[in-house]
Amino acid sequence: MKTGRNGEMKKRVSKKSVTQEPGTGRGLLAGDEIFLERLKRHHDELRWLFMELYDNDAMFAELCDRMRQFYLERNQELKEIDLKRESDKGWYQQNDMLGMMFYIDNFAGNMKGVESKLDYIEQCNVNYIHLMPFLDTPEGRSDGGYAVSDFRKVQEKLGSMKELESLTAACHKKNIHVCMDFVMNHTSEDHEWAKRACRKEGEYMSRYFFFDNGEWPALYERTVPQVFPTTAPGNFTYLPDLGYYVMTTFYPYQWDLNYRNPRVFNEMMYNFLYLANRGIDIIRIDAVPYIWKELNTSCRNLPQVHTIVRMMRIISEIVCPAVLLLGEVVMEPEKVTPYFGTLEKPECHMLYNVTTMATTWHTVATRDIKLLKKQLDIINGLPKDYVFLNYLRCHDDIGWGLDYGTLLLEGKGERSHKQYLNDYFQGFAGESNSRGELYNADPVTGDARFCGTTASMCGIEKADLEQDGEAMERAVRLDLMLHAYMFMQSGIPVLYSGDEIGQLNDYSYKEDPYKAEDSRYVHRGAMNWELAEKKTDNSTVEGKIFQGLAQLEKIRKREKAFVSNADTWTIETWDSSVLCMARHYQGEKLIGLFNFSEYDKTAWINETDGDYTDLISGQNMKPAGVNIPAYGFYYLKRNE
Ligand code: GLC
Repeated sequence: MKTGRNGEMKKRVSKKSVTQEPGTGRGLLAGDEIFLERLKRHHDELRWLFMELYDNDAMFAELCDRMRQFYLERNQELKEIDLKRESDKGWYQQNDMLGMMFYIDNFAGNMKGVESKLDYIEQCNVNYIHLMPFLDTPEGRSDGGYAVSDFRKVQEKLGSMKELESLTAACHKKNIHVCMDFVMNHTSEDHEWAKRACRKEGEYMSRYFFFDNGEWPALYERTVPQVFPTTAPGNFTYLPDLGYYVMTTFYPYQWDLNYRNPRVFNEMMYNFLYLANRGIDIIRIDAVPYIWKELNTSCRNLPQVHTIVRMMRIISEIVCPAVLLLGEVVMEPEKVTPYFGTLEKPECHMLYNVTTMATTWHTVATRDIKLLKKQLDIINGLPKDYVFLNYLRCHDDIGWGLDYGTLLLEGKGERSHKQYLNDYFQGFAGESNSRGELYNADPVTGDARFCGTTASMCGIEKADLEQDGEAMERAVRLDLMLHAYMFMQSGIPVLYSGDEIGQLNDYSYKEDPYKAEDSRYVHRGAMNWELAEKKTDNSTVEGKIFQGLAQLEKIRKREKAFVSNADTWTIETWDSSVLCMARHYQGEKLIGLFNFSEYDKTAWINETDGDYTDLISGQNMKPAGVNIPAYGFYYLKRNE
């Protein structure tokens, strides 16, 4: 059981012609034609889904009415982008997409600072920035901004809604897309609704899950797993001042919203549209599997979650079709892909390639590509329209969600293997050069996740500390090889800011009482602009990584075979440490070879369809018996 805070534990519109709007029976102002046409297209399905959950005509009519208002308020520039993207639905599946995520204060102080750094972002070849949570949140009870106390207010230290609009407009001028989090599973305990619930206003209590005794919470706890078993155990928080329990899946100050209440759904959709209208291109739906709760279930991935996501997709296609939905589903593959929906009834546009990410680090620790190859074969077998967001690490921990059924066949049990991985990445086991920290080590299950920057996990931190030049060279090679391999995957690659110059773990969070308990802060350090200045100096680690990545990024943008819906497959190399991936698009073929071991290897491939050129060195190469140096890689392109 967790303890509560107070307990021990414009556009002008002509008013001339008025037509009928379907669904609401209300009059419609001229200028609405596009909205009307889109609403007509989706109305029946939206109404059907809404009624299925809420059976409430008045609330549905209100929703349609407010959608129209948000459409009318949406500015002309954004409406033009809407139209462009509506007629080019695959716009985000191209090979020019490259993302970068950062906390605004860590990256550039505030929103104005970010605006002044857009040139740097362009130098990184990045055209998609994920601004980590920036909405109002109580200091010290923020979960990195994921406890929102006001969905319409920017944290004062970061800027204002006006500055957000100015930033998104400046980004659009440079063809940079902006992503933000929409934290819809919960609000902060400081949100107005929570405050009114604390005053025992029934209407607001019904927006959360309140229980006046411990019986129901105990029943839920029987089937609901824990997200933060160490830092915030349990799924409920007792509020002594109120004499009630409230559901808190994450931290005690993050109160789960009750989506059985149509008022919650409607109001959250208005918040979503309000934010979309500030010029946001990509909405990351935070913790989406958790948004519907049922007793006697795990309260994860319930069918109603998909109804809600599908409604969100329809609502955005009616009001702001330029906006992409990125679902945060950090779960095993069979649970992730349903969030794409179906071809006829799509849900999210993009999802995180989380199992591939975790399996990548497993491969680093074992030097054995077998499981990774299998995982990539699964991904390659999925419909090509599925767009994954690929990454080596993000702001969260790495959870060891691997295919343990397969690993068991090799004699690797789940518990012992997780232990090995955690030991390895802390630098205790195997031939490891990694540095980092455990996250939410659960003394009961023995489970733990892991935190560290890419550079630290590749050995750059250790080599730097030990002033070991050879080890540093190897670590930089591993870092670059991992990026090259990640760029070879289909979808959109996203870098964590600072990784482009090999930034190390930052242990200073331990001195901040608000952060000390949460080891994820070890890899959320501030951008070091002094180091970034070395990005052009090839004799430095920063320069080597920055220049190395820049070369890969340019190749990725240039070569058509990197488009998201190319044919992709893996090729057997007959060496357990060398991964071979192939891509084919409109007659162009690429082969990527990646050596996950610190020894030189030979990839025993034999492609007989012509000569190839290594796009990195420009050398002509035969894709047969390829010698590949320790932690090396090749991008081989078939000659025309
Ligand atoms: C998501 C975020 C994570 C946060 C959690 C609760 O998983 O990525 O940082 O703690 O949601 O909002």
